[in-house]
Amino acid sequence: MARSWATLGVDLHLEPTGSGVRKGLTDALREAVRSGRLAPGTRLPSSRSLAADLGIARNTVADAYADLVAEGWLTARQGSGTRVAERTPPAPRTAPAATPAREPGRPAHDLMPGTPDLASFPRAEWLKAARRALTAAPHHALGYGDPRGRAELRTALAEYLSRARGVRADPERIIVCAGFSHGLKVLGAVLGARGVRSVAVESYGLDTHRMLLTGAGLATLPLPLDEQGTRTDEPTGAGAVLLTPAHQFPLGLPLHPDRRAAVVDWARRTGGLVLEDDYDGEFRYDRQPVGALQGLDPDHVVYLGTASKSLAPGLRLGWMVLPPGLVAEAAAAKGRADTCGALDQLTLAEFITSGAYDRHVRAARLRYRRRRDALVRALASRAPEVRVTGIAAGLHAVLRLPPGTEQAVVQAAAWQGLAVPGLSRFRHPDAAVEPLDALVVGYGTPPEHAWAGALEALCRALP
Ligand SMILES: Cc1ncc(COP(=O)(O)O)c(C=O)c1O
Repeated sequence: MARSWATLGVDLHLEPTGSGVRKGLTDALREAVRSGRLAPGTRLPSSRSLAADLGIARNTVADAYADLVAEGWLTARQGSGTRVAERTPPAPRTAPAATPAREPGRPAHDLMPGTPDLASFPRAEWLKAARRALTAAPHHALGYGDPRGRAELRTALAEYLSRARGVRADPERIIVCAGFSHGLKVLGAVLGARGVRSVAVESYGLDTHRMLLTGAGLATLPLPLDEQGTRTDEPTGAGAVLLTPAHQFPLGLPLHPDRRAAVVDWARRTGGLVLEDDYDGEFRYDRQPVGALQGLDPDHVVYLGTASKSLAPGLRLGWMVLPPGLVAEAAAAKGRADTCGALDQLTLAEFITSGAYDRHVRAARLRYRRRRDALVRALASRAPEVRVTGIAAGLHAVLRLPPGTEQAVVQAAAWQGLAVPGLSRFRHPDAAVEPLDALVVGYGTPPEHAWAGALEALCRALP
């Protein structure tokens, strides 16, 4: 629907499109800036007056502004309002610049959870492993190959996962995939073909994962949540349960031992399947890693792991360890066309068997632990009203905020040039739990030299 506003001298025709109001408004504003209809430096109306002009909630406008500030299209300064950034990414029709333009959408500080410190990717070791792997690879390794992935990698993973994560793994039951998301998509297809109609998921999680399941025709049913974490005793009506047992994403608690047992009991009783997302299982700081749930019952639990946190998401490498009865179906659903590059698989196999993976994970764990400790110390002295939770593991922390303040803090963070999401972004729309106000801080994301600045900016944004 086309709308216009004429506040503060700005007259702009906006056509928010798509299903969500916030996304529609964000897209329309981004397009207005990108096309040059909103010139650099233009002051935008306050969220209150734009909301009134468009007849939508003020928070929706504030969220859209915050998203665009985080992406670099707008700037927000206390006292001078929200403006179109001076150096916005070039409009599509301009001639290519001689030197590459500043990457669009880069906030000054990136504290989004989900990405490790990419500047610490072990380039030299990876190159060495790639050289060794390619030198040793037989010619047939460059052919189409097994849809389950290269045997060398499946063998290396079976040894590593049983040693480091307590997974009951056998190379024959491992399928290599392009990250966790690809594995989930394949499993969605398998479940759909088996007649499953719905999957129980955690009340808080990634909407991209829920969307992968809905894309496969499966409804997602939020599991109840209490002070001990996700309740798994009765995933009523679901044919499968998707969980992050070692470190709930994003809240950060491990799944309570009774509830680990309960979900396995449920799977045995009903023939249901548990999908275990072990996305950051390598990074536990305060005690021994919580072993994989799959170890309790490899016949009813699919273990899914990924190199996205331990190495880099751009590798697009992940793995599933499947119950014996599911391997053929999952391999068929994945197919031969839909696979990962053999050379990357062989390189990762070599990287693991040479010990480079363990060395890299140990060094990364130490670095992230130092950051986590610095975060906890800084918050204790600079933001005593904020409670930090979920920090025993992983690369993110949950900063619990005073009730009703989440939106304002996200906006204040955007003013500080920070990209950091509120917890509400991760809430299942049908979750029965009271919304919690919090920030989800990905402290693993900035490069080492930028971490102190990001932490300082975060502290300035907090109440
Ligand atoms: C909860 C959770 N699971 C899994 C992943 C990894 O996904 P992928 O392997 O597809 O990159 C992430 C990454 O952000 C995550 O946050």
